[in-house]
Amino acid sequence: MVLHDAPSLIPFPSSVQLGEGSVPLGSVRLTGDPDTVALLGAELEALLGHEALSDTGATEIALGIDATRGSAEGYALDAGAGRIRIAGHDAAGLFYGTRTLLQLLRRGEPSGGADPEGPAATGWSAPEIRIEDAPRFRYRGVMLDVARHFFAVADVERWIDRATALKYNHLHLHLTDDQGWRIRIDAWPQLTGAGSGSDATGGPGGFYTKDDIREIVAYAAARHMTLVPEIDLPGHTHAIGLGYPDLVELPAITEANIAEAAALDQPLPEHGVPYAAWGVGHSSVKIHEERTYDLIRDVLAEVAELMPGPYLHIGGDECLGTSAADFALFFERAGRLAAATGKTPVAWHEAGAVDGLVPGMIGQYWGSVVPEEGHAAHARRFVERGGALILSPADRAYLDMKPRADHPRGLAWAGIVPLRTAYDWDPAAVLHDVPVTAILGIEAPLWTESVTTLAEADGLAFPRIAAHAEIGWSAQNGAERSWRSFRARVAQLVPAWEASGIAVDRAALDDDPEQDDARVPQPAHPASAPSAEETA
Ligand code: ACM
Repeated sequence: MVLHDAPSLIPFPSSVQLGEGSVPLGSVRLTGDPDTVALLGAELEALLGHEALSDTGATEIALGIDATRGSAEGYALDAGAGRIRIAGHDAAGLFYGTRTLLQLLRRGEPSGGADPEGPAATGWSAPEIRIEDAPRFRYRGVMLDVARHFFAVADVERWIDRATALKYNHLHLHLTDDQGWRIRIDAWPQLTGAGSGSDATGGPGGFYTKDDIREIVAYAAARHMTLVPEIDLPGHTHAIGLGYPDLVELPAITEANIAEAAALDQPLPEHGVPYAAWGVGHSSVKIHEERTYDLIRDVLAEVAELMPGPYLHIGGDECLGTSAADFALFFERAGRLAAATGKTPVAWHEAGAVDGLVPGMIGQYWGSVVPEEGHAAHARRFVERGGALILSPADRAYLDMKPRADHPRGLAWAGIVPLRTAYDWDPAAVLHDVPVTAILGIEAPLWTESVTTLAEADGLAFPRIAAHAEIGWSAQNGAERSWRSFRARVAQLVPAWEASGIAVDRAALDDDPEQDDARVPQPAHPASAPSAEETA
């Protein structure tokens, strides 16, 4: 039984014409753009087998760039008559065409098994298809919080693989928080002393050397992904006080902090002591201490030098113990220091409370999808001052919100966010009075208070990360931009995700029993990706 007419592509392309036949991939030769040939070649070898690729392969996959076609990051993919052509408008578009191709690949039943399409369907093939595609938004981000729990370089690279397969193009690394400072700064070496030696649950922590960061930057760049480093200021800075106790205030502990710590059986923050817990809002750098700005200037300069992307995120969230006047004084100055590095500063939306916000700053909105008026006003301030917005409504886009109450990981302060809830929002409809041209795009953050491994990150992110990928890429009025279509396509992609080592939360598809056409196919051969088109 065919489950759904649309090919199982996420994000769904702008235009798709599906043919009847298929293009066999038992013997393949790659031609064209050398970087893309090398990258896709390695990926296809892993999937199809080393012997499938050669210079004399029967099926040509031609990979080219043609700037006269389509628009930025767009591509055309044409599979038929025994060959596949992908033409990117630019190198990124060509790369996204290859991501689409990888989602299209399907494996026929092995020889001897029931095979409705005959012998030609055995082995790997791609359907005959013509696709034209380009993204809705130019910023499509995921965030990984490496401060609450540290993730090794190899795990960050696997996270980049996961995200770029869904056509995300920015990775926001939340590099510093109360629980740890995760990036080497030569001018202030004690930041990565005790300040990086623990995490939110008392584990060993860690930090990235400059070579580690260079490796991540290069890995991301080869996949057309830009890194957005965040140094969270002036709050979320308890860890700075482990190396430089004179530069942070004593913890400003609220009744809410005390109640939460008691409920979670967690310690309260103590000046100069590693903080293995996840209360927020109690820390601040010393805003009236000149040396604070020496540290910030040096940190931002070193980070900006390491990271080639255009953005530098300087936090600004949850400064609950800081007066509005001090926050404004600090953020005007920190914004100017960030801009002086040549980067465009980015901040969480609370920074929009500051009258003298540095012009052109990007705001990251993390309020709810139906905004409180104060939050919306703060977000608007960025646009009024010539900046733009990235939307991360916490009750839709936060990947660390529990998808259901009994999920073993995640938090629930912004609510329970099932897959359907994650899918049902339109970035253009969140903030009134903000033109869609001022929306740079969307970002799905994964905070890691409750997440200690990549598998745990996967279990929260998959499949909801696919929902935000489609929201960021596909047109809101696109033919397949519906829950019913999306859910069917997700179900078809789950086995391939699992075959590539991703721990998917299969229960996410159980939340709508009326939609019984979206069962997840069981892999016939768990070691390889099965057919995505039909149930057994
Ligand atoms: C945030 O969730 N504190 C930005």
